[in-house]
Amino acid sequence: MEENAPAAPPTEQLSEEVAKLLAGHITIQGAEFAYPVVIQPGALTNVLPDFVRARGFKRCAVISNTTVGPLYGESLVAQLPGAFLITVPDGEQHKTLDTVRTIYDQMFAAGADRATLVIGLGGGVIGDMAGFVAATFMRGVAYIQAPTSLLAMVDASLGGKVGVDMPQGKNLVGAFKDPLAVIEDTATLKTLPEVEFQCGMAEAIKHGFLADATLLDHLRKHGPEPIDDVLRQAVLVKKHVVEQDRLESGMRAYLNLGHTFGHAIEQASGYSYKHGQGVAIGMAAAVHLAARRGLCDPGLVEDVEVTLIEAGLPVRYADLNPGDLWEAMGTDKKWRDGQARFVLIKAVGEPVIVSDVTRDEVIAVLEEVRE
Ligand code: NAD
Ligand code: GLY
Repeated sequence: MEENAPAAPPTEQLSEEVAKLLAGHITIQGAEFAYPVVIQPGALTNVLPDFVRARGFKRCAVISNTTVGPLYGESLVAQLPGAFLITVPDGEQHKTLDTVRTIYDQMFAAGADRATLVIGLGGGVIGDMAGFVAATFMRGVAYIQAPTSLLAMVDASLGGKVGVDMPQGKNLVGAFKDPLAVIEDTATLKTLPEVEFQCGMAEAIKHGFLADATLLDHLRKHGPEPIDDVLRQAVLVKKHVVEQDRLESGMRAYLNLGHTFGHAIEQASGYSYKHGQGVAIGMAAAVHLAARRGLCDPGLVEDVEVTLIEAGLPVRYADLNPGDLWEAMGTDKKWRDGQARFVLIKAVGEPVIVSDVTRDEVIAVLEEVRE
């Protein structure tokens, strides 16, 4: 067996029965990767266990947290072969190497080996962290993303970025780890708190402004219903991007619209602003910056802000200092050679990256989006 060879047979050997279960799924496919994204209420019961069995796994580590584990983890474990549940504390402040270390310890204690499948069951925090465990445990084991928050279904579970936060900044240690499958059970959204649903809407709206005027129009007129269809459209935007630029050497950077401002707001607030809220305020800031630079019609500022507000999202921050936010931006992975890089939009579907932004401009924009 080759180092790091996948422990499971390829997708084409799936039984007819499982192929049927996956009917209608979206495939994310590049030169060296292909995995199904299943969007279906009940998929944790109707699809995931059969998929795991068909792939020949005999041992599964389901990694979840203290909120999602009791809701869905125990019943999932009961349906999987040789499965055990690892539960970590809930919250972005726990997306750390310390938590990852406790997961490794529990994997060893449960007798996990290179043939063990890791399943990340939860929001983006769990998906990123469980994926990082899967990328590194015994130099890499197979991974399935089972996102349960809207944000993770729209964005975090797709595209293979996994990792943890560092005291120096968000997502600064990580890897690319493509999952074997992404299983989105939309019935789990029933228990998702309203504020977390709104956070997921921030990423869906981001996908709309970046690349899909039809999705954006639907979100404005009808909101997130029907959720399975909205999710499908939003997932297709991310599919299109990561299939062409999995490692973010080009267009994938556009998905960071709002993230340079947003990550700084999250980090400087000690994560009292949630990721989706940071992205929403960050998108507002990005469009203010675009307008200041004459890159977009000033009407786009109102357009972005009204769309976000109507989805229940914030477009202003409070209780943070613009100078501190500028400092927090210094650790952003998107910067190159000390130069700030921002994703802006000129119009719907027309993102652009600017890299000559000065501190004064950023501070001025941060004043504009301060409460
Ligand atoms: P989260 O994982 O903290 O989940 C939000 C909250 O909802 C948590 O309290 C969680 O326990 C709870 N929850 C999740 N599903 C639930 C359910 N069905 N019922 C009840 N409660 C539920 O946050 P998030 O918004 O899902 O994800 C944000 C994270 O994702 C950030 O760390 C961000 O950096 C990361 N992210 C990663 C990528 C990527 O490409 N890897 C992309 C976007 C965001
Ligand atoms: N959410 C940004 C990315 O996946 O690249």
